[in-house]
Amino acid sequence: MAEVAIDLPHHRYRAVIEAGALARLGEELQAVAPAARCALLTDANVASVQKPVAAKSLRAAGYEVVEATVPFGEEKKSLGTVSQLYEVLLDAHLERRSPVIALGGGVTGDTAGFVASTYLRGVPFVQCPTTLLAMVDSSVGGKVGVNVAQGKNLIGAFYQPVLVVADPTVLETLPDRELRCGLAECIKHGVIRDETLFRFIEERLDAVQSLDAETVVELVRRNVEIKAAVVMEDEKEAGVRAHLNLGHTFAHAIEATAGYGVIQHGEAVGLGLVAAATAATHMGLCDAQVPDRIAALIKRCGLPARADLAGDDELGAAMRLDKKVQKDRIRFILPTRIGEVVIRDDVPQSAVSAGWGAIRR
Ligand SMILES: NC(=O)c1ccc[n+]([C@@H]2O[C@H](COP(=O)([O-])OP(=O)(O)OC[C@H]3O[C@@H](n4cnc5c(N)ncnc54)[C@H](O)[C@@H]3O)[C@@H](O)[C@H]2O)c1
Ligand SMILES: [Zn+2]
Repeated sequence: MAEVAIDLPHHRYRAVIEAGALARLGEELQAVAPAARCALLTDANVASVQKPVAAKSLRAAGYEVVEATVPFGEEKKSLGTVSQLYEVLLDAHLERRSPVIALGGGVTGDTAGFVASTYLRGVPFVQCPTTLLAMVDSSVGGKVGVNVAQGKNLIGAFYQPVLVVADPTVLETLPDRELRCGLAECIKHGVIRDETLFRFIEERLDAVQSLDAETVVELVRRNVEIKAAVVMEDEKEAGVRAHLNLGHTFAHAIEATAGYGVIQHGEAVGLGLVAAATAATHMGLCDAQVPDRIAALIKRCGLPARADLAGDDELGAAMRLDKKVQKDRIRFILPTRIGEVVIRDDVPQSAVSAGWGAIRR
């Protein structure tokens, strides 16, 4: 079992990481958000497999459980779903103290979190991540929100959970492709902050992929510690939190130009890590072994190290549409070695092109 404390100036919460933790959700929750009732919001894919364990544990701890199933998929991370969930909570007369629990991947967590942040001006929110990505990334840090036609995650809030419960045994039902996508974010964490995490993934990849419980707990703990440390330093992304976007400027452009569903986010992130490291090499910021080592690990994970990409101009235009672009200067996060990154807004086109060249099939 592992526990990570997330200590913010206005709020402190714990992430509990343990095989079987979902069966203890009720007692953990009573300790931080005692109430007569709670709402359990799950993704339709998770509902049949993991919901019964969570619901049983909540009832055993004395909660009356209001259940709602969120339709799955990125396209359902919408204001329409938010409004359907408000209806469920309102019809059930859920009160101010009643916690809202998100049991699912990042889509469920982001959507349910936005609902929790706004329903009655905010009710206690709990994250029970069921994808590797949600365990290591989206469930910690308090970014919640939904997509609109104009772009992804444009409507949202910073709203921290009161508790995170990550039970790695739930990953047994997760499709392999989703597991690989989560690994891309783990590799990203290694590159921005922690060479020993990067090496841990290199050395223990087989055990991670076969879901050895102890190894997965260790992997999730190390990643949550990094995400928590960054968020504790800079909750609202005024500075170092931007480091978490390593590879994402490239990735968002790949996703935007590839067309919906062709390349998954995690796959694009893997490619983006290689592209960013190659651009850094081109600028003399890091040595050529860095992109090589990242590409080798990405490949071993079963993630693509190359893809059919649009032309540099089209990709560049997509990059400039990214919401993180300020005054037309694209800010890149670039590695200087495995374990350290810098923020640069003076990256020449030749370096960006070198990045695209390294991942274009
Ligand atoms: N808030 C943040 O800080 C943050 C950070 C990173 C990503 N995100 C968001 O997270 C979302 C992606 O999250 P995701 O990759 O978890 O996607 P997801 O929630 O869509 O889950 C991926 C798929 O796996 C299924 N699934 C989930 N858990 C399962 C399980 N245990 N068994 C079987 N199937 C399961 C889901 O139904 C879905 O089809 C994006 O919307 C992204 O914007 C948010
Ligand atoms: Zn990401």
